This record gives sequence, structure tokens and C-alpha cells, in this order.
Amino acid sequence: MLKTHSCGEIRESHIGQRVTLAGWVHRRRDHGGLIFLDLRDRGGLVQVVVNPEAAPEAHRAAGQARSEFVLQVVGEVIPRPAGTVNLNLPTGKVEVQARSVQVLNAAKTPPFSITEDGEVDEMVRLRYRYLDLRRPRLRDNLLLRHRMVKFIRAFLDARDFVEVETPILLKSTPEGARDYLVPSRLYPGKFYALPQSPQQLKQLLMVAGLERYYQIARCFRDEDQRADRQPEFTQLDLEMSFVEEDDILALTEELVISLVEAVAPGFRIIKPFPRLSYGDCLERFGIDKPDLRYGLELADLSDLVAGSEFQVFRAVLAAGGAVRGLALPQGAGYTRRQLEELTELARARGAAGLVTIALDPEGAYRSAAARYLTPELVQALAARLGASRGDLLLIVAGPRPVADAALSALRQELARRLSLADPNLLAFAFVRNFPLLEWRPEERRWEPVHHPFTAPVPEDIPLLDSAPDKVRSQHYDLVCNGYELSSGSIRIHQAPLQEKIFSLLGYNAEEIQERFGHLLEAFQYGAPPHGGIAPGIDRLAMLLAREDNIREVIAFPKSKSATDPMTGSPSPVSEAQLRELHLAIRDEAWPEGKNGP
Ligand code: AMO
Repeated sequence: MLKTHSCGEIRESHIGQRVTLAGWVHRRRDHGGLIFLDLRDRGGLVQVVVNPEAAPEAHRAAGQARSEFVLQVVGEVIPRPAGTVNLNLPTGKVEVQARSVQVLNAAKTPPFSITEDGEVDEMVRLRYRYLDLRRPRLRDNLLLRHRMVKFIRAFLDARDFVEVETPILLKSTPEGARDYLVPSRLYPGKFYALPQSPQQLKQLLMVAGLERYYQIARCFRDEDQRADRQPEFTQLDLEMSFVEEDDILALTEELVISLVEAVAPGFRIIKPFPRLSYGDCLERFGIDKPDLRYGLELADLSDLVAGSEFQVFRAVLAAGGAVRGLALPQGAGYTRRQLEELTELARARGAAGLVTIALDPEGAYRSAAARYLTPELVQALAARLGASRGDLLLIVAGPRPVADAALSALRQELARRLSLADPNLLAFAFVRNFPLLEWRPEERRWEPVHHPFTAPVPEDIPLLDSAPDKVRSQHYDLVCNGYELSSGSIRIHQAPLQEKIFSLLGYNAEEIQERFGHLLEAFQYGAPPHGGIAPGIDRLAMLLAREDNIREVIAFPKSKSATDPMTGSPSPVSEAQLRELHLAIRDEAWPEGKNGP
């Protein structure tokens, strides 16, 4: 080894010892002869002093060193002189008096400061990701992620799970996104698909008799990017045989709680995890992944306003919509400008507008819709929303999904502005009782709410023929602080039921055979009842690292527009490569000089 110690581990107990360190120059200061170097490696920083008289060679080398040069330093650990102790630094009571300094490699001036944690344009950070990763924030995020995965492996190993790798070159597995395709050289015109998740493979491992499987699995989905989405991401994919919903939820809860307590003990967790129904979630929060760290719950006002003079409410109700709202405590004093901002937010979510009613502390009320409101109605609305004098009522009328989307966005925004969410709280909850299917009116077909392998609640199976929208599923989600962290379900394990679902989803017999024949066939060879779940590792790491974007917990993520500015991917390939793959580019979708979105 070129070093005997890590820079960050040097303490008073090392005083008098000779150490060999190697790392990067974090800072260099020349003090009239003496040169001070902050030498940094993954373990932290230590101060090195180079004295021109005691070590002239070392002093010459240190004089050449600039930020981010790679050095090897041999020297003695000594106490820092009185008055120069730095208690903010774990190594701050000591320094290393250099005997030799050797430049192992030079460095160009970095495009951004490694020493300061300031804002840097993200494309620059991604272009020089190896430098970005030298900064403590990202280094700590990677270390946290490492500890998470290590903990998960040990936890599942102790519970008899087997880690199995599944192929990356696969066949299309529907998870609701577009596939990434890989052309086959050997079979012209044919493609592999990268897995959107190992869903079918883990089910086949249950048919294979593995009973308890997990994998830290890479998944690939060509979908629109968001702060919590990447084209490739990592799941803790797991599956168990001979289980019911409760078994999976209990295991997940135990895993998540013990994981957080082990790797991120600064957080509080509400235990046991609340279990909410999908219907309740929509009713109370307008969304199926609510942030439960604060109240501001929604309520339905449709019955109260049914007889109102207000044409907006009446028209919406007549069209089958809903009038819903929430109360903002102490919000009556919001200015016109603030109310306009809230209205804009509701509009951005598709609402036609926002009705606000300010309940004055004196008992009067103010609203742009005041002339359509009677004092009795306002009182009833306030009572339903749990509001009192001084509060602000926010009401949206529209198709139920639109009203819910607008109000849940308002709820989140108000909580953000008022800092209602405790940053040290992880409010996990299981959401259950999802419907199995959702009608897609534009495409005139049913779509699985989770995926087509999810089992219906057994007593609802007869409804598949008469009222598919009423069929409840055995699908469950784990949500936390407004994010969907995991989805899972008890699966269908009988071929006839699986086939029935596929045909309900609009696949004809030939398509079913072509796409899912392997699974249906496997189910005829003694498939055990089984189910599983797949927590997103990136999203969980993001929450535990107190980041608000999963790119911050991924070593080499893609940019917002799904590119890699470091390697320049995606990139063109040579004519020869294309030919070998039997491919020709039909049209350049993007004009010269442009690189896509
Ligand atoms: P699902 O598609 O819900 O379920 O994904 C499970 C979890 O994976 C994470 N996730 C993502 N993370 C980052 N970027 C993305 N683009 C992305 N998409 C999903 C989320 C999500 O909750 N096979 C099923 C699981 C099962 O049924 O067992 C599946 O993949 O945290």
C-alpha cells in the first residue's frame, strides 16, 4: 500500500507515530516559509505542515502542488500548537509534520470547487461526475447507499432468501413504460428488450421452487424523466412462495424499519406503518401516495353545495363531477397575490379555477364568489373542513380526478410554504385495496393498475365478467413522505385466470401466446401461490440522504433529458456497426446540431 493510514483517521492517539498518507490536495496555504496542505482522501482531511529547513525536498514538492494534485506524504503526527486547534475537524487537534512529499500526479484546475459545497450547474457536475463524487455530499450518499444494500443483503440472508441474478437481455416485460431495445446481430430484425423489472423471472423462480428470492436488480424504462425517475434504476426485487399479503407487508415493514434504524438513525418513524385503503387515500389526500407528515386533509363538499346558486358548482355536479376542498389554518390573511398564485397552481393541475373563502377573525367572510354563498352555507363548509375563524377555505369544483389532483398539489405546496413537514420524520404507510383495472377511455380498453400478473381478490373473480372496474386487487404500495417507494402484489399463479386477465386487457390468443406463452406454460407445471414487492433503492436512498432528487444518490445518473454528458451517450454508432445489426437509420428526427430534448 502507498499509505499506512487514512487521512481522516489521524488522532491524538497517533502522536509520535510516523505515518504514510496518500490523497488529494484539498487546500494549500503558504505561510512565510511553512506550507500547510490539507490532504484529503475518502476518510477525511488532515493538515500537513512542510518546513523548508527540516525537509527542503518535501518543501519543494509541496510548493508545486496545486488543488487536487495527488500526493504521498511521509511524516510524524504531532500536536497542533496551542491556539491552532480546529475543533470542527475530527483530525483538528493534530497535524502531520512532513519528512517527504511526493507528487504522484498533477491535476488541472477543476471546473468547480471540490472544497466548497456551492451550487454548480448540473450538466457540469454530470460532465465531471468523478470530480463531483469527490465532494463530501455525494461521497456520503454513495457510502450510505452501500450501507443500505449491505444491510438488506444481511437481513434477507438471515431470513433464508436466495440472491439470484436474472438476465438483462430479455424479452419485453410490460410495466407500463416503453422498452429499451437491443438489436440482435444473429437474428436480423429481432430484438432483446432490457427488463423494466425482473417481474416474470422472479415468478418463474417461484415456479422453480426457490421459495424466497431477492435481487438488487437494475431496471430499465424509457419514460419521461422526473426528480424521482431515471431511465435505469435499482430495485430491491423480492418474491416469496406460500404467502399472503400480510406476510409480505410484515417482512417489508420489519426490513424498512430496521434498515432506517441501522443506517440513518437521525430519523423518526411512525410505527407500526399505517395501512390505508386506496379509496381513503384519494378521499383524504386526493392522491395515492400522500405525505402523511402533516394534516391539511381534503373533504367532499358536493352534498353541501348541491342546492347552491353558484352556477360553477351546479354545472360541475350536474356533469358528474365533485366539489372538494381543504382548510388552511390561519390563512384568512392571504393577500390577493398569494391567492392568485394558489389559483395558478390549481389551474396548472387542470382545475378551471379555485374558490377561496377567507373566514375573518371577526366572523365575517370574504370571497370572490361571496354573492353566491349564504352565511349558512359558509358555516357548513367551514364545519365540514374543520375550519374556524381566521382560516382560509380552498375549494375546487371539477371532475373528481381533476379536483383531487389540484387539491393535493395545493396541499403539498401549502405544507412546503409553511414548513409543516418535519424533516426528521419518515411517514411510511401501506396503501392497499387498489382496483385491479382502470378503464382507458381514449384507447377504449382496460389497463392494469399495477401489472397484469397481479391477483384479484378471490371473491371478486366473478366480477371480471360483469363489472371489471369493481374487481379489487391484491396489490399494495409502500409510500413515504409523498413518494411511492414500493409496489407489489400477490400474483396470479393459475394459467386460466392469467389468460383471462390477458384477454380482458385486449390481447388476442396469438398475442398472449407470443408474449406470455412461457409464463402460462410454466404455470401448468405446479406453480405455487406467490407474491412479492420491489422497493426502489434510489428513492429510499434519496429520502435517507435528505436529497430531493434520485440523481444525487446514483453514482453516474443520466441527466434530466436522459443523456450522459460525461461519456456523451446516447451517441451515433458507425455504419459498420449498424450494418452488422441489420439496421438503417430512417430519418434523423433532430435537425443538424441538435441532440434531442
Ligand atoms: P413498480 O413499477 O411499481 O413495480 O416499481 C417498483 C418501485 O421501483 C421504483 N421505480 C423507479 N425508481 C426510479 N426511477 C424509475 N423510473 C422508477 N420506476 C419505478 C419505485 C417503485 O415503487 N415488478 C413490480 C414490483 C412487484 O410487483 O413486485 C414493479 O416493478 O420506487
